[in-house]
Amino acid sequence: MTPTYHSIAYAGFEVANPVTLDAILGLVARTALPEGAVALDIGAGAGGVSVALARDFGLRVQAIERYPDMAEMIRDRAEAAGVADRVAVVAEGSATALDRLAPADLIVALGSTEPAGPGIRSATDIFARLSARLASSGWLLWGDLTWKGEPPEPLRQVIGATGDYATHEGWLAAAEAAGLEVVSAGIAPDADWDAFFGGADTRVRDWLVANPEDPAAPSIRRRADLSRATFDFGRPWLSFGLYLFRKP
Ligand SMILES: C[S@@+](CC[C@H](N)C(=O)[O-])C[C@H]1O[C@@H](n2cnc3c(N)ncnc32)[C@H](O)[C@@H]1O
Repeated sequence: MTPTYHSIAYAGFEVANPVTLDAILGLVARTALPEGAVALDIGAGAGGVSVALARDFGLRVQAIERYPDMAEMIRDRAEAAGVADRVAVVAEGSATALDRLAPADLIVALGSTEPAGPGIRSATDIFARLSARLASSGWLLWGDLTWKGEPPEPLRQVIGATGDYATHEGWLAAAEAAGLEVVSAGIAPDADWDAFFGGADTRVRDWLVANPEDPAAPSIRRRADLSRATFDFGRPWLSFGLYLFRKP
């Protein structure tokens, strides 16, 4: 399979986001969901979170991932962890998968793009639509880029290519407007930011050194350069928020 920026940068991470697996699992523990409860992991990436949900909580996980190379990585990871029977890999975008797979007891969306469907970008609309796919008393575990105050407009536009992000207070207000209860809300420590963005960049640079003639190398280098420049420049204005919401 042709190598992609995603598959190189995210391979091996337990969580392909600037937050630790412990922080995520600590919140999942608070749901006290029973074994066999259904979790949808939207944008499952390299599959570390999906596998942990099945392994540590016995959840039946639908790992929704739009890129085929990442979907393959999730399958491999689930098999290696002995939980392939509890992790179903759904290799498509969430827009087409959600209706079919709902209702869920838990929806996880960590760093996903337009998880409720194309063009649905306001936080309140996203939360309301995800909530509609939850069973009653279901849970939404949400993690995403979070503005620290007002960013320079060009930075907002570049980062906004993938979604409309909110401040910490903005995510909380949107959840409440969508009828969700806030059970936990926090910002990941700066060290998690460095571990993730620094680690991803190192992996891609190492790959470029080892594979200089690969036909995909020029585009992967451009993507890595853009990502590093954006997140280095944006660092003073960006953080990663992690939230557990409950549908009452
Ligand atoms: C930043 S990674 C996060 C992976 C994972 N959630 C984690 O925290 O480890 C985002 C991944 O989600 C996938 N993705 C983003 N939005 C998606 C969507 N709406 N439907 C399916 N996959 C999506 C991307 O292809 C990418 O592999």
